[in-house]
Amino acid sequence: MEVSDIKKVGVVGCGIMGGGIAEVAAAANYDVIIAEASQDLLDKGMRAIEASLALSVRRGKITDDVKTAALGRIRGTLDLKYFGDCELVIEAVTENLELKKKLFRELDGICRPDAILATNTSCLSIIDMAAQTSRTEQVLGLHFFNPVPAMKLLEIVKTIATGDETLRVARAFGESLGKAVVVAPDIPGFIVNRLLMPFFLEAIRLVESGQATREDIDRAVMLGLNHPMGPLKLADFVGLDTACFIAEAMYDEMKDDRFAPPVLLKKMVAAGRHGRKSKKGFYDYG
Ligand SMILES: NC(=O)c1ccc[n+]([C@@H]2O[C@H](COP(=O)([O-])OP(=O)(O)OC[C@H]3O[C@@H](n4cnc5c(N)ncnc54)[C@H](O)[C@@H]3O)[C@@H](O)[C@H]2O)c1
Repeated sequence: MEVSDIKKVGVVGCGIMGGGIAEVAAAANYDVIIAEASQDLLDKGMRAIEASLALSVRRGKITDDVKTAALGRIRGTLDLKYFGDCELVIEAVTENLELKKKLFRELDGICRPDAILATNTSCLSIIDMAAQTSRTEQVLGLHFFNPVPAMKLLEIVKTIATGDETLRVARAFGESLGKAVVVAPDIPGFIVNRLLMPFFLEAIRLVESGQATREDIDRAVMLGLNHPMGPLKLADFVGLDTACFIAEAMYDEMKDDRFAPPVLLKKMVAAGRHGRKSKKGFYDYG
């Protein structure tokens, strides 16, 4: 298959990431079908896509005509049976390996034999998903970053079974969306989260031990390393529940203490302090 053969892209999960992926694919002229678990969630996700495109119009990034055309190319569904003619499917459901494995089994039975199946997982083992299919060489990770329309990077995650042709087509697909592509190994955290998680967790340990304040840690990193945001503010933005989940998954896989979530992080998650989305994390957003 060549990237020019990709006409219809299937996206599973219309949450933050699935909606963003559908949006950028439709804006790049692909027909998109997106599946959700319920009509309410699908409606909510479609409204978020529309709002995001409207924001791009207000910011002068796209015209109103492009927005209308992109929305016209996205179709929502509750049934994966409409994914049969997709050349590429990107799974972006909740970060749960058993759920993703089940979905890959289902997609393998539904999709055309030459279709590429991709996952947007943040840290889970992609070969475990590929092994559920009869096409392991056509399975890989397409790890987009949040918010998808704004973030330039796409990590393409190659498993030990991913074929060269699949990798080549995936790279060309990512570039057709205007993304900068890197190829990452199928190891916990790939490249970005592999480096980011110890950084987050060490910043949290510094707060936990009372050796430095959250403000000083964030200021030091912004001014000393030229990062646009300090690690604690960034952790709040990513979601402390998400960060904790990723750390736990990476620790489970590698049993490396650098990835063990600090007690403070676990307590904050238990208390519902999930960062920006819950209005309280390391900072208050009330
Ligand atoms: N949020 C981020 O910053 C980020 C960044 C990169 C990658 N990811 C990864 O992307 C994936 C999705 O994350 P998200 O932040 O968009 O989560 P989210 O909770 O916003 O969206 C997930 C969606 O999947 C839907 N879903 C669950 N089971 C489904 C099924 N069987 N069929 C159809 N839809 C189903 C849920 O209803 C939900 O709307 C995860 O694997 C996550 O690790 C997230």
